[in-house]
Amino acid sequence: MTKHLRTNIYSLAFGASGVGKVDGKVCFVRGALPGEEVMFEVVKDTSRYIEGDVTEILVPSADRREPVCRYYNKCGGCQIQHLSYEKELFHKKEQLVQLIRRIASDKDFECDDIVASRDCYHYRSSVTLHKGLERYGYYRRKAKDVIEIEECPIAGEGINRELAGLSPAGGKDEITLKEDHEGRVWRSDRPGERFFLDRYAGVDIYMSPKAFSQPNRYISEKIAATLESWIGPSWDDAAFFEAYCGVGFYSFLLGQDFRLRVGVDSSRTAIDCAKTTAKRLEWGNVKFYRGEVEKDFFEIFNRTKKRRNLLLVDPPRAGAARDFLEKVKECDDLERVYYLSCDPARLARDIKILTAGGGWVLGRVKPFDMFPRTKHIEALAEFVKPKT
Ligand SMILES: C[S@@+](CC[C@H](N)C(=O)[O-])C[C@H]1O[C@@H](n2cnc3c(N)ncnc32)[C@H](O)[C@@H]1O
Repeated sequence: MTKHLRTNIYSLAFGASGVGKVDGKVCFVRGALPGEEVMFEVVKDTSRYIEGDVTEILVPSADRREPVCRYYNKCGGCQIQHLSYEKELFHKKEQLVQLIRRIASDKDFECDDIVASRDCYHYRSSVTLHKGLERYGYYRRKAKDVIEIEECPIAGEGINRELAGLSPAGGKDEITLKEDHEGRVWRSDRPGERFFLDRYAGVDIYMSPKAFSQPNRYISEKIAATLESWIGPSWDDAAFFEAYCGVGFYSFLLGQDFRLRVGVDSSRTAIDCAKTTAKRLEWGNVKFYRGEVEKDFFEIFNRTKKRRNLLLVDPPRAGAARDFLEKVKECDDLERVYYLSCDPARLARDIKILTAGGGWVLGRVKPFDMFPRTKHIEALAEFVKPKT
């Protein structure tokens, strides 16, 4: 029999569930917002916490908004359309700070304000769709069946136009659509579209529908500009290393006059893009290697390092490999380390590894809203050597 409880919500957990208490036990209520009094249906009850779905909002928050998307609540893509964008930004920064404090046990770091997205809808320049019976769509929330969609309000307008005419008849199980700086759409399933030339902050970079690219054009340019200003001037005797470099996005956007730039990524398509961009730009002091970061990075590093060296780590959502991070922790030839993450819990775990035993000190962290209306949080962290 279903059980219903009543609670007052006092914060928003990472993942976008409202947090309340019932008889002293913490409960996570999907669909509820801070400041609300709600009834919810219990879906999980453990000795430590309760999880549930909101069934009735008895006292609504002034920050509650009507979701824009007709598939919201079924689709697994967005989790925060029912909250004002201003409050979404506020809670994302709070969640990041709390996760780092709790998981990495670091209380003294500086967290900058979150950088808002220019648009909180129609910002995505890359989407991956799955084949349904009559249309393509996204995976259902907490499931692997497909919610077939006619439009996606967080995707770019070019992608939405392409989506409207996309039929699954004879099509691949999965298709990635990418929109370039001119609004043209490139498809992973169309022959002859392996590479396309895209422009970020005035630099032409080869991309591919078959390789990773940052989904929010405005925010990825902001991250590159922040990284450039954090690194600062006078690195012309240094090498800049990028682990999990993809198409070399950050290597190409940083304006510093590094003596050498080196990127490592496991995707052949991404490395082909990076090499082609370097050739087109006629950059001689840049090298890209296809390899597994955990296996190959330090062998490449030891061969190519200079007197001074910097490292950017930009791993997939699962975080960086532990063995690799242990080596970064021990490495005396690195002067600073930057870590770009799209999962704050993984970032916090990796901060703990890098800073354990006084290896590195977490200097500062800056969140970026790469994924408005969804639970995801992007953050850049800077690690410096402990003061002696
Ligand atoms: C978050 S993306 C970052 C890409 C790039 N920095 C960018 O902004 O476009 C993560 C990258 O890690 C790569 N990757 C995943 N596992 C890897 C591994 N074990 N070794 C090397 N690269 C890996 C993927 O191919 C992907 O390009």
